[in-house]
Amino acid sequence: MLSKKVEKALNNQIRIEAESSQIYLSMASWAEVKGLEGIALFMYKQSDEERLHMLKLIKFVNERGGHAQISELNAPKIEFGSFQKMFQELFDHEIFVSNSINELVHVTLQEKDYATHNFLQWYVAEQIEEEALARTILDKINLIGNDKGGLYLFDRDVQQITITSAAAPGPLG
Ligand code: FEO
Repeated sequence: MLSKKVEKALNNQIRIEAESSQIYLSMASWAEVKGLEGIALFMYKQSDEERLHMLKLIKFVNERGGHAQISELNAPKIEFGSFQKMFQELFDHEIFVSNSINELVHVTLQEKDYATHNFLQWYVAEQIEEEALARTILDKINLIGNDKGGLYLFDRDVQQITITSAAAPGPLG
């Protein structure tokens, strides 16, 4: 059984994952209209993953006797300036999500809710991976600078990362 405090914190995380999905969906759409196909594919996939993170939490809350609440979301931005800035935003957003997961883990310890604490370890591990991936991409962006040919190769590289990671088991599998 979830304490009210843990349930509230989990519901907050459900909203954050849903908003993350919308943010990446908006980034995907922006990249698509700019002709950045690989980047768009990557962002569509990130958006799908965030939705799965949200669903996994919803199932958990309801299974543990709580009520997962689907709430109103903040609208994401629709313009991102440049793909460099967009990936910086993705990285910053993942740091924000990691901090939020850490807070959530902290609440479960305060409440001595070891079942939820155990469940959240998957999210802790996932955040390490997502931060590492975003950092790798930012490093690549720094390497290419403003080179047009570099952008073409970068877009293809990001597409390759997307295809490779799509072959790995998903969060619900
Ligand atoms: Fe669900 Fe990218 O954090």
